[in-house]
Amino acid sequence: MDSYDTKKRVLLIDDEARVRTSLKMVLEPSYDILQAADAQEGLDVFRKEGPDLVLLDVILPGTDGLAVLQTLRSESKMVPVIMLTGTKSVKTAVDAMKLGAADYLSKPFDVDELRIVIDRALNSLELEREVKQLRSQVVQRYAFHNLIGKSSGMQEIYAKIEQVADSRTTVLITGESGTGKELVAKALHYNSSRRERPFIALNCAALPETLIESELFGHEKGSFTDATARRTGQFEMANTGTLFLDEIGDLSPVTQAKLLRVLQEREFTRIGGVQPIKVDVRIVAATNKNLDELVRKGQFREDLYYRINVISLYLPPLRDRGEDIALLGKHFLAKRLEEEKRPHIEFSKEALELLVRYPWPGNVRELENIVEQAFIWSNNAEHIVPEHLPAILKGDVRSASLHDDTISGRLSLEKAVMEFEREIILDALKRTNYVQTHAANLLGISRRMLKYRMDSLGISRTDRDPTSEPDPAVQE
Ligand SMILES: Nc1ncnc2c1ncn2[C@@H]1O[C@H](COP(=O)(O)OP(=O)(O)OP(=O)(O)O)[C@@H](O)[C@H]1O
Ligand SMILES: [Mg+2]
Repeated sequence: MDSYDTKKRVLLIDDEARVRTSLKMVLEPSYDILQAADAQEGLDVFRKEGPDLVLLDVILPGTDGLAVLQTLRSESKMVPVIMLTGTKSVKTAVDAMKLGAADYLSKPFDVDELRIVIDRALNSLELEREVKQLRSQVVQRYAFHNLIGKSSGMQEIYAKIEQVADSRTTVLITGESGTGKELVAKALHYNSSRRERPFIALNCAALPETLIESELFGHEKGSFTDATARRTGQFEMANTGTLFLDEIGDLSPVTQAKLLRVLQEREFTRIGGVQPIKVDVRIVAATNKNLDELVRKGQFREDLYYRINVISLYLPPLRDRGEDIALLGKHFLAKRLEEEKRPHIEFSKEALELLVRYPWPGNVRELENIVEQAFIWSNNAEHIVPEHLPAILKGDVRSASLHDDTISGRLSLEKAVMEFEREIILDALKRTNYVQTHAANLLGISRRMLKYRMDSLGISRTDRDPTSEPDPAVQE
């Protein structure tokens, strides 16, 4: 890209010739400097030359710099403006930031600070452009309403969504946990003519049985002890829109029966009410359970099953759509970078290989979490490398079994976390030859904190590889 080899152009608007000359001298080697002595000239040059950044004096003859800032911002949201203030006037600086200034500098200028502030503003602009471009590329090529994926499995899902979105037909979305069922439910809603109407999501598993009916249907005042006011249920709220019944496999038999009635009659009554209420609601349901099996076991009503399973969408687990892993990983990383306004980083080839090889029992949600962790671990590195990824991806059996033991309920989360911390601390100590100060540095905590954690985890200072020297008691 040519923008990389040409110097960035900085427009300097300041009425004091002395300030302009000295700033030009300092900045000229790194940037092309354009100058203007007042607001009007500044705006003219800005419009004609289209600089990459503006340095703007707060006090200009006849005009308020903040007014110029407003005009500049209204003409271009992208070009960063850095305010130059005469005094350390916090109020002006705060006002300037509120009006969208990228930063501010107070006179007299510190040359290093000046460069840092300018570079930072230019970099974040570059980053913003890059991320935007990257995202729109990924999104345009492989996405469908926030769903990312180019695998044939996902293509099929996109096609089905398009086919069935715009009808009132009930859809049942199935698939393992974390495969994107909720996103698909939303895609169905937002691709239908109901998109402007409410999308109401109700998690059937999260509510105790005593509350779910009042959630769904609402209640009249005084219908039960706690019912001090009339309450509108989700069915009413979703009227003319979509009601998403998540985890529908967890409904109790009683609620199943009531739901069946609404689906058949398209009307219901509030708890404690007599008047039937008619609703026009599109139902989308989801579950990670095997409803067939629940029906066979008598835990899910067969008639309700047929009612909701008019059209079913099965989301394949992530391990069966390997091509999507890298794409999703990059997407989540780009999203985090954008949120944090951090410089662009990428996965190394090795890190991507680990991601692609891992079977992802927690599917896309697990991938999203792991990218988030790696992003944090990567700190300011240029690449995310295997060291930034958790041990399970690298086939570290010990950590992997810790993970499995916890997920399967054999080990409490608290114990697992302690065990994991113990492992990491021991590893850090080993790597630093048991020099606690160094180990603490490696872990990004203070030595005091390290000692404290070692004490509470019962790691004694002599817990060390006997072959390694020197004596840890001495090396602190
Ligand atoms: N194809 C995809 N593209 C982008 N993000 C996705 C995709 N699939 C899932 N996600 C993201 O992964 C996370 C989990 O997705 P979602 O909540 O839809 O899964 P789910 O199938 O409903 O899981 P559960 O059964 O545990 O409720 C969400 O943050 C979602 O945004
Ligand atoms: Mg869900």
